[in-house]
Amino acid sequence: MLDRIQQIKQDIAAFKIETAADLEAFRLKYLSKKGQMNDLFEAFKTVSKDQKREIGQKLNELKVLLNETFEKYKEVAEQHAAASSSDSDLTLPGESFPLGSRHPISIAMNEICDIFAKLGFSVAEGPEIEDDWHVFSALNFPPEHPARDMQDTFFIQKCPDILLRTHTSSVQVRVMERMKPPIRMIMPGRVFRNEAISARSHCIFHQVEGLYIAEDVSFTDLKQTLLAFAREMFGEKTDIRLRPSYFPFTEPSAEMDVSCSCGGKGCNLCKYTGWLEVLGCGMVDPAVLEANGIDSKKYTGFAFGIGVERMALMKYKIKDIRTYFENDVRFLQQFSTAF
Ligand code: DAH
Repeated sequence: MLDRIQQIKQDIAAFKIETAADLEAFRLKYLSKKGQMNDLFEAFKTVSKDQKREIGQKLNELKVLLNETFEKYKEVAEQHAAASSSDSDLTLPGESFPLGSRHPISIAMNEICDIFAKLGFSVAEGPEIEDDWHVFSALNFPPEHPARDMQDTFFIQKCPDILLRTHTSSVQVRVMERMKPPIRMIMPGRVFRNEAISARSHCIFHQVEGLYIAEDVSFTDLKQTLLAFAREMFGEKTDIRLRPSYFPFTEPSAEMDVSCSCGGKGCNLCKYTGWLEVLGCGMVDPAVLEANGIDSKKYTGFAFGIGVERMALMKYKIKDIRTYFENDVRFLQQFSTAF
């Protein structure tokens, strides 16, 4: 029996107790009714009288040891349980947050700005709520010009006229007020026109305006700048064509088409012409330079206004301009890798 007591002492030292389950196993093995301690007490009844004293002492020692061990590990197991029942399980995989994506208009606008930045243009911005001077008068719009009509412009107030800018050309005026030539600026922004909403036009859209004023700026500079831009934006093989046009603030004026990605075969997008109109441009009218305090004998300049929605329609082959403003996540998600 003494041997058994010795053996149990060794077993206790080797018993691994870390969790509540380990502790329960320990209790069942040694301290429960059917445990080994009870077995020993049962066996003790049959021990001869002369051995009783010695074995009884050893048995008591073992009992004390078992109880002490149990109490000690009870504390450890409780701490372990408290730690594992806390709210955060650090072994769980992290929660993933779906990343938003940039709007196709922003992507196109950023790309246009990046291309012109490489050509030496800096960015300027101006207010969306403007006065008549910056949107029309300083840009040589005659008083009877239809763009000044209520039909085209959203007026906020009449006399003095406060309105939503109908084009970013108003920022040209603000730039000329602030800066002396040489000026090489692009001006991205939102514009507003009182137009019926359809697949091809909207009452809110975006433009990137460009202005370059220095000595000896020529139409050739304009054409080469726009060609370089079109090839960066739509690929090396892109061609441009300039058609004569009219804008009050440029003379001569032109509209620029880029060759359609259908390669001239004709498609829905280019209405089977092989060309897509993307911007208006021209040489800044001397009257505009003078109205803005720039000596038109010394300086010449070119300007252009790019329709951003148009650019993005072409680039991403979007069929309906209205999809830009519907905020349908299924549409927007398609651009998550495009920036
Ligand atoms: N502002 C014109 C529009 O909204 C576009 C434009 C044409 C801008 C010619 C220019 C320009 O700077 O030179 O239709």
